Amino acid sequence: MFNPKLYIPRAAIIEKIEELVYDTKLYRLKFKHDCRCDSSSESDYKPGQFVQLSILGAGEAPISICSSPTEQGHFELCVRNLGLVTAAAHGLKRGDEIGIRGPYGNPFPIEEVKSQDIVFIGGGIGLAPLRSVIKYVMDNRDDYGEVIILYGAKTKEDIVFATELDEWSQRQQVKVFTTIDSGQNGWTGHVGVVTTLFDKIKYAFKYKAFVCGPPIMIHFTIKGLLDAGWAQQDIITTLERHMKCGVGKCGHCYIGGKYVCTDGPVFTYSQIDTLGIEV
Ligand SMILES: Cc1cc2nc3c(=O)[nH]c(=O)nc-3n(C[C@H](O)[C@H](O)[C@H](O)COP(=O)(O)OP(=O)(O)OC[C@H]3O[C@@H](n4cnc5c(N)ncnc54)[C@H](O)[C@@H]3O)c2cc1C
Ligand code: FES
Repeated sequence: MFNPKLYIPRAAIIEKIEELVYDTKLYRLKFKHDCRCDSSSESDYKPGQFVQLSILGAGEAPISICSSPTEQGHFELCVRNLGLVTAAAHGLKRGDEIGIRGPYGNPFPIEEVKSQDIVFIGGGIGLAPLRSVIKYVMDNRDDYGEVIILYGAKTKEDIVFATELDEWSQRQQVKVFTTIDSGQNGWTGHVGVVTTLFDKIKYAFKYKAFVCGPPIMIHFTIKGLLDAGWAQQDIITTLERHMKCGVGKCGHCYIGGKYVCTDGPVFTYSQIDTLGIEV
């Protein structure tokens, strides 16, 4: 049920900014005041949900929460400098104030996949929303089975969360494979788009696949998984659409009878298949 209180932006203070790569920054945020609304604490969200980030004089943009609710006292957003709002965000410094509405949207089905094996397939900054789930799974390691992370970036300079990818690969029953699109001086790892890592997944039917990345990557990833025999309902991905309200009122994100902001942004491929759209 839509909660109108969630339409009110709350002031949040930037506690920390980290430059992840040349065009992408990670923001650690804390609410400025206590709130009497339903989402009262910084960890009151689920992996896969997003917020509307607002900056005075610039506007609002939907941004996925990339931290895990298992972390207390703050939440994190990973923002690529792409346009008006995101450029304004990149101009901010520690201690500055921004507006946050939400959290909005449905989460990845982390409860439903408990005890199962999961493969995360991320492209570029699409690793950000997946990071929320991955961190959640790492913090509740005994509740989940084997984890495989396949991550593709355009170049080595575009790899986000490199240190964390390395840390996750040290965990029990976790394998991480990273690739860049084409060969580059100083890169000794795998070369090729992320689908060229699919031979790392044995026994496709064992896994749930969580996929996030740019539209072209999602298209070929889903095609590759379906060709390899994955069931439609085992492929879980996100749809990105232009959004304004974030709460199912304005119709900007309406597609095939669904609002991406409230019915999504997380969908199984079997749900997407009924929307009558190409991904
Ligand atoms: C649910 C959701 C979660 C997102 N999570 C993140 C995130 O974690 N980090 C992040 O950096 N970005 C994320 N995005 C994308 C981000 O919201 C857009 O890049 C943002 O709206 C840009 O705002 P802006 O004012 O900076 O750019 P604008 O000035 O509005 O636009 C810059 C350019 O990007 C295009 N554009 C803007 N939004 C979209 C869109 N949704 N789809 C296709 N083209 C678009 C515009 O047409 C224009 O060409 C997410 C989007 C959605 C819908
Ligand atoms: S963004 Fe307004 S209905 Fe989805």
